This record gives sequence, structure tokens and C-alpha cells, in this order.
Amino acid sequence: MRQSPLVVVANRLPIDDSVAPDGAFEWRRSPGGLVSALHPLLRHTPATWVGWAGGTGPAPELPDVDGVRMRTVALNAEDFRDHYEGFANATLWPLYHDAVEQPEYHRRWWEAYQRVNQRFAEAAAEVAEPGGLVWVQDYHLQLVPGLLRALRPDLRIGFFLHVPFPPPELFMQLPRRSELLRGMLGADLIGFQRAQAAHNFAQLAAKVLGLSATDRRIGVDDRVVRIGAFPVAIDTAEMAALAARPEVADRARRLRQDLGQPEKVILSVDRMDYTKGIEQRLKAYRELLASGDVKVRDTVLVQVAVPSRDRVGQYQILRDRVEHQVGRINGEFGRVGEPAIHYLSQPFDRAELVALYRVADVMAVTPLRDGMNLVAKEYVAARVDGTGALLLSEFAGAAAELEQAYLVNPHDLDGLKQGLLAALRAGPEDVAARMRAMREHLAHNDIHAWAASYLSALEESGSLVGRRPAPR
Ligand code: ADP
Ligand code: F6P
Repeated sequence: MRQSPLVVVANRLPIDDSVAPDGAFEWRRSPGGLVSALHPLLRHTPATWVGWAGGTGPAPELPDVDGVRMRTVALNAEDFRDHYEGFANATLWPLYHDAVEQPEYHRRWWEAYQRVNQRFAEAAAEVAEPGGLVWVQDYHLQLVPGLLRALRPDLRIGFFLHVPFPPPELFMQLPRRSELLRGMLGADLIGFQRAQAAHNFAQLAAKVLGLSATDRRIGVDDRVVRIGAFPVAIDTAEMAALAARPEVADRARRLRQDLGQPEKVILSVDRMDYTKGIEQRLKAYRELLASGDVKVRDTVLVQVAVPSRDRVGQYQILRDRVEHQVGRINGEFGRVGEPAIHYLSQPFDRAELVALYRVADVMAVTPLRDGMNLVAKEYVAARVDGTGALLLSEFAGAAAELEQAYLVNPHDLDGLKQGLLAALRAGPEDVAARMRAMREHLAHNDIHAWAASYLSALEESGSLVGRRPAPR
């Protein structure tokens, strides 16, 4: 296997195996924030992406994707169940998202997490050039920086967490908390979405491991590990260019016709995940329909909720509840040919998603907790005509940047209803002024600026004292 100067290690590869409508096998871009952020960035760079291709068979050989080499890591059925569905998505995911669902702790899951992290570390060690840079992503792989440093002390290692990092009182629940912290501290630079997360991490490093730690630097053995906030972004220009294409504008016009030419279209686009606040949003919408503040003929809600992690119990329960709620609302408030909610649980290609963004007068992004939420940024970037109101949860990382959105607390049902009404009824000048400010922010703070700031901090970080030549 040839080696690369830059290696990205992430649980998921940017493509997924799937079956096309005609039954043929095809590779398709995987939905999710991590892939959306990194895929445009790496295109045509001499990099290797180490990741899992979906499925539980042997690791397939994949061709390069947009000039980036793919190094697949296999997960067998047990790894998939205990590492991906178990420790990653039923222990860490709920714990890191304010424990909005109860995290589960099982020793077997922890064993699988260690085993799979070791496999990813070995794959990265194999494909990284001597003295190269390895950038490890997200909560599935928190042990990889430490394991990789043991295998390849010559490398510069970065770690970035796409999800929130919880306050000490939650993290302290984890039975293997010190191992997880030590694993991350194998990196030279640990990046978080928000400064609060870096602060939480520093507090834990001091409390659990007894290290000397500030919100910027932590001393570990003979090294200094830098930590900090690097809010992830999107390729703003690419999104705007796609939105401005005549065929996308045409598609948006046709979608509006198909929706019955309502006065207002509200859109939500989420992975089907309990952190996204879908149930709370639907409840608020139902109450607005019941009170007559919103009328079906004038306003339609389009809810896109692509299935995710669909064998994990909490996700199955959520999907059943959401689909029951949608059915009930449509039954009560819809008319023949005029549903109150258009519910779509399918993956869409980028152009279709962007056409949906273009048709939405109000975009409702109301997670209970979210590391960033790139959908909110995509919507703003796609509003090339400067219109459109963004309703945004205070608990999404994006709220720290998109301050001009209509901000709401999604736990407060009345506040959520008022926010939605405010966004629906806002005057065009107010909407345009807010949108202008948000678009201006995203024009400067795009994915290229994010990568440049992270990678230059990584270049500067790490004491070279501990760095040793590559093993032969
Ligand atoms: P998360 O990382 O939790 O999934 P984000 O909002 O940060 O949340 O990122 C979701 C990404 O997945 C976005 O880039 C969005 O465009 C994409 N996405 C969401 N729903 C779909 C869908 N139905 N089809 C294709 N892509 C989707
Ligand atoms: O950052 C959130 C995240 O977990 C990403 O790591 C991931 O790509 C995305 O959500 C989608 O989740 P999954 O890979 O489990 O489908």
C-alpha cells in the first residue's frame, strides 16, 4: 500500500454501498456532517481516507474517490453491533448529547471499542508517510491517537471531535473515562466545536488524570498537547454555486407547485436522531395547527428525516413515534391532496436537497443538542437571493456563529411555537438583514478557512522532543 503525507481517519468513508431504485448496486455519498465537511476539503489532495465502507463483510477494495485514496477497514457483525451500534452510538452518543436518552454501559462494548480502534490505528500507521500528518475524527475513534503514537512516534497527530464534549458531571459516569481521555491525549492538537468543550476537557484532564491543564494546553509526559475550538464549516461557495444553477432554481419552482403553491414552506432536514428535536418540533406544529395560528392551505411543513443507526433500539422507537405523530397530524389536519406534513425518509442527492433549501421560506433546525449542525449552514449558503428565515436551536453549535437566526430553546414548547410564528410572520426587511449578516459570516468562515486554521495550529503544535524517527 502506497503511503500519503496526509491521512484522515474516520469511522465512515465518504461513500456508502447502497441499492439504486432499479435494484443495481451503487456507491453513494454517505449522509452526515463529518462527510459533508471533509469530502469537499480533501478532493484532489494527495491524501488517504481510512474508514469503514458500511456493511459487515470483508473490507472491499475501493477506487479513489475524487482523487483521494480509500483504505477500507472491515467491521464484522460483532464489531458493528458492539463498537458502532454499542459503545459509539448507545454509550458515547447519548452521553455526549446531554444524556437526552439514557447511555448504556456494557463491558463487551468497551472491548469491541478497543479492538476496532486498534484496527483503525494499524491501518493509519500503514498508510502514513514518514513524518506525515494523521487527522483522526470523532467519538468512534477516541483511542486512535494514543494507539497510533505508540505505533508511529514520528507522526504529527490531530484529533477533531464533531460532537459536543460533555461537562465533567456527565463524562464522569463513563466506566473507562481515564482510558478515553488518555487516548485523545495521544494527539498533538485536539479540536472541539466550541470553547466550552475544550474547557470541559481541560477540567477532566486535571481532575481524572491529575495533569496540568489550561483551556489551551495540557502537559502529558514530555509533550504539550494543544486544545481549542475550531467550529466546523461547509464549502460555502460550492453550495451557493449549486443553488444558483438554473436547473436547481427550476426544480425549486416545480417543488413549490407540487406542494400546492402555499404562502409559506417550512423545511426540516435531519438524520432520524433523538438529538434533533423532531418530536418536540412536530408537537409545536400540531399545537399551532390546532389553535389556527397556522393553516394547512397557507403553510406546509416538509420534514426530511433520513433513517440512521436503525437497528439501535432508541432509534427504532423514535422512528415509530415520529411516523405515528406525522400520521396523526395528517389525519387530523390534512385534506385530500393537502397533507399538513410532507414526510420524506429518504436520502437525496445534493441538487435535490439544495432545491428543497431554495423552496423553504423558513428552515426549522431545532436540535436538543448538536455539535454544530451543518444543515443550518447549508440553508444559509443556499439562499442566494438573500431571502429565507432560519429558526435555530440555542443548543446547536451553529447558534454561536449564526446569531442573527431566530433562536429558540427547543425544550420550551411555547417558546418554540412563538419562534416559529415569528419566523413565519417576519417582514421581508428583517429577514433580509438577518440573512445578509449570516451569509457574510459563512463567506469568510468556510470549510477551507476551518481546515487552514486547524492544520496550521497542528503544524505549530506538539513538542518535537517526543517525536522519534519512523520505524523501518
Ligand atoms: P449530523 O452530522 O448529526 O448528521 P449535520 O446537520 O451536521 O448533522 O449534517 C448532516 C449532513 O447530512 C448535511 O450535510 C446534510 O446535507 C446531509 N443530509 C441530511 N439529510 C440528508 C438526506 N436525506 N439525504 C442526503 N443528505 C442528507
Ligand atoms: O458528527 C456526527 C456523526 O456521528 C458523524 O460522525 C457521522 O458521519 C454522522 O453523524 C452520521 O452518522 P453515522 O455515521 O452513524 O451514519
